[in-house]
Amino acid sequence: MPTTPEKLSKYEKIEAFVRGFKLSSLTYKRVMHLLNEEMNNGLRANSNHLADIKMFPTFVRALPDGSEKGKFLALDLGGTNFRVLMVVINERDVDIQSQTYLIPQRIMLGTGVQLFDHIADCICRFIRDHDLKNVRLPLGFTFSFPCKQEGLAKARLSKWTKGFRCEGVVNEDICYLLHEAMKRKNTTSVEVEVVAVVNDAVGTLMSAAHNDRNCEIGLILGTGCNACYMESLENVGLWEGDYEHPAQVLINTEWGAFGDNGCLDFIRTEYDRELDTYSINPGKQIYEKMISGMYMGEIVRLALERLSMEGLLFESADRDCELFHRGRFFTKYVSEIESDHDEFFRNTKQVLDEIGVTNYTSEDCKIVKYICTLVSARAAFLSSAGLATVINKLNKPEMTIAVDGSLYRFHPRFHNLMTLKIQELVNHGLKFKLQLSHDGSGKGAALVAAVAMRLRDIKENQCPA
Ligand code: BGC
Repeated sequence: MPTTPEKLSKYEKIEAFVRGFKLSSLTYKRVMHLLNEEMNNGLRANSNHLADIKMFPTFVRALPDGSEKGKFLALDLGGTNFRVLMVVINERDVDIQSQTYLIPQRIMLGTGVQLFDHIADCICRFIRDHDLKNVRLPLGFTFSFPCKQEGLAKARLSKWTKGFRCEGVVNEDICYLLHEAMKRKNTTSVEVEVVAVVNDAVGTLMSAAHNDRNCEIGLILGTGCNACYMESLENVGLWEGDYEHPAQVLINTEWGAFGDNGCLDFIRTEYDRELDTYSINPGKQIYEKMISGMYMGEIVRLALERLSMEGLLFESADRDCELFHRGRFFTKYVSEIESDHDEFFRNTKQVLDEIGVTNYTSEDCKIVKYICTLVSARAAFLSSAGLATVINKLNKPEMTIAVDGSLYRFHPRFHNLMTLKIQELVNHGLKFKLQLSHDGSGKGAALVAAVAMRLRDIKENQCPA
């Protein structure tokens, strides 16, 4: 960062506390090598049980071809909000009406029965508000947690992530839990049939592939972080379905768990370790915790807190203010602060005011912004290393990567940082494009449901009962 000679020693001291965020290209290449190994371990039948990256086959065998039609319900559960959507697909045209409902923290940390009862309540409200009583619509359920799928509409939760910890759901089939909750509502006028469960990364890819045949990878950079891609069945050791054409299946990598076995310890900083220790799932989702929106603000906060304790920042900050409390520095602040482009630091000052830091100087603002840029660039580069690994694996001359998630959408530099880094890391000659995907969770789930219904119709017509 810019400095003057008389300030050098202060900046040198600051550097000593944050240099762990700056990783060399060689280090990112080592991360890619490790990720590739871990992904292969996840794919192989004989090593999957030991692998952190589970590489779940999704039972989605083909991308949409644009001929899909129909009216569907979709559910989207994956963060603090839950959405119910009505999606009407008419070939390339998609019309979406949706309603968002909050999931209170007591439900995120309560029992599975409470969670699914809440979901069922929201569905009933939506159906009532949209005059859909007595209409039987197929439903696509975007459930954005690691699941072992046993079929398109059968998915057992393997573990919770992103702040959820509802008792009695791990290892259970979430479609069954939803159907049971709907039965408990005891209403005959509302009938739902889940025809597909999809992960948000899968929905994102499906949604973008509807308009772009070159789409090969789905990426989520939001509260959590994950990617999916199409893999040949011959490489999927755990595949238990049929081998009919097309001999491929979408893999939900669940790469957020990369590093859970300690293989990323060589790049973790003291702030990463502290964040993990105080998280709801210590030792889990190590790669995700260095990247995604649920954690980025807290990493920045921990670094700022450390600098302040060392007397290098905010000389007279009140120890009671939000800066010194876990979870009170949000990732959206990082995006806001990095949107400051001049010496007035308007956004940075607004954030500091909001979290109760007083008497800050312009130099403090400069340091705060610097820390934000370091943490977000590392996140962008680590996710680039992940993407470059998959791009190299697919080895296609040209491809589109469908991306969604609040971090990617709202951070001012993420897209550009990623594009530059991936260019540096992919094998020579491979071209790619990062494309924002719209409403993957809603449209994507409905598209998977549409394809499932089309296949079902074909089967039923082939073998009449
Ligand atoms: C979950 C994934 C999800 C990702 C993004 C992770 O915590 O394990 O299933 O795709 O977050 O929402």
